[in-house]
Amino acid sequence: MKQAAITGIGGYVPDYILDNDEISRMVDTTDEWIMTRIGIKERRILKGEGLGSSFMGEKAVRQLLEKTGTRPEEIEVLICATTTPDHFFPNTASIIAEKNGIKNTIAFDMAAACSGFLFALETGANFIASGKYKKVIVVAAEKMSSITDYTDRTTCPLFGDAAAAVLLEPSEDGFGLMDSILRTDGVGSSHLYMKAGGSAYPATIETVTKREHFIYQEGQAVFKYAVTNMADVSAEIMERNHLSKDDVAWFVPHQANLRIIDAAVKRTGVDYDKVMINIQRYGNTSGVSIPLCLWEWEPKLKKGDNVICAAFGAGFTWGSVYLKWAYDGEKFAK
Ligand code: UT7
Repeated sequence: MKQAAITGIGGYVPDYILDNDEISRMVDTTDEWIMTRIGIKERRILKGEGLGSSFMGEKAVRQLLEKTGTRPEEIEVLICATTTPDHFFPNTASIIAEKNGIKNTIAFDMAAACSGFLFALETGANFIASGKYKKVIVVAAEKMSSITDYTDRTTCPLFGDAAAAVLLEPSEDGFGLMDSILRTDGVGSSHLYMKAGGSAYPATIETVTKREHFIYQEGQAVFKYAVTNMADVSAEIMERNHLSKDDVAWFVPHQANLRIIDAAVKRTGVDYDKVMINIQRYGNTSGVSIPLCLWEWEPKLKKGDNVICAAFGAGFTWGSVYLKWAYDGEKFAK
């Protein structure tokens, strides 16, 4: 069985910055409430008519191909983790592939909300493990602003738009994806969902009027599940791989709420300066949050670093992944 390793990362965030002052002019909230309860200062928003998640995914993939010196025709599999596809069909992966000249590929989307990247990473790694495929791209792309209700103060401060992509190749030296624990519990479907627009409740004038095409979240219920499950799964993957807090070079938690991150950090015991946190600048970018952190921290990542990623999201879906980092990130620094 061939082990898969991440061998490069690309990323993209839109230019427009939606800060807490602007949010405070849209709904009844304050910078202080958002910072204390969530920990977000600003988030990026993709503006422009007709631009969907593929616009950002395309850019992240292009950067990835350029950085790693990979030709589009070499890519055999392209998986797009997204909850905000451009359309029901065709899938967003095929649009991103087309825009990058990627033709000889299996391209498909995966929907697992905030855990989407970890689920897609595991799937991509299994294509490599089969021995049949040598270059797989996993791209997460989310235009969360397209399903965010900017009249609802309980959800609109939370989300932001972004994309990030990784290249997976067979590991040369045993480094790469070492272990994963991925879980699903459908109990979450009543706590965090978008009611209309799918086959159960197709769009009607009424669904639009009732604002059912936006994220609905029972924050406290989701919070409780998120705190417990993300912390548990992070600790579990460390234990079963015999990793102490000092063995972990980086902890990469999904960026939904600083208080959820805190709980997971405390549970793992990892020192705070080894935790990747950019929620204050980007908010919750759903499935993008983990690769977006890896993209930002790439220059600091060293070959052999033990990296623990953990996510929790709608479904509920959650999980953790243990990576032994496969290259010195510095090599891509300009
Ligand atoms: O990434 C996918 C998974 N999602 C998550 O992990 C999110 C999990 N949930 C959370 O992060 C938190 O529950 C929220 C950030 C969404 C909300 O924080 P909370 O501390 O759970 O607040 P709450 O819903 O319990 O509301 C507390 C109070 C309420 O007022 P009353 O009823 O106590 O008078 C809300 O109406 O805060 C009020 N409130 C606000 N006040 C000012 C809710 N949103 C706001 C706001 N500004 N934006």
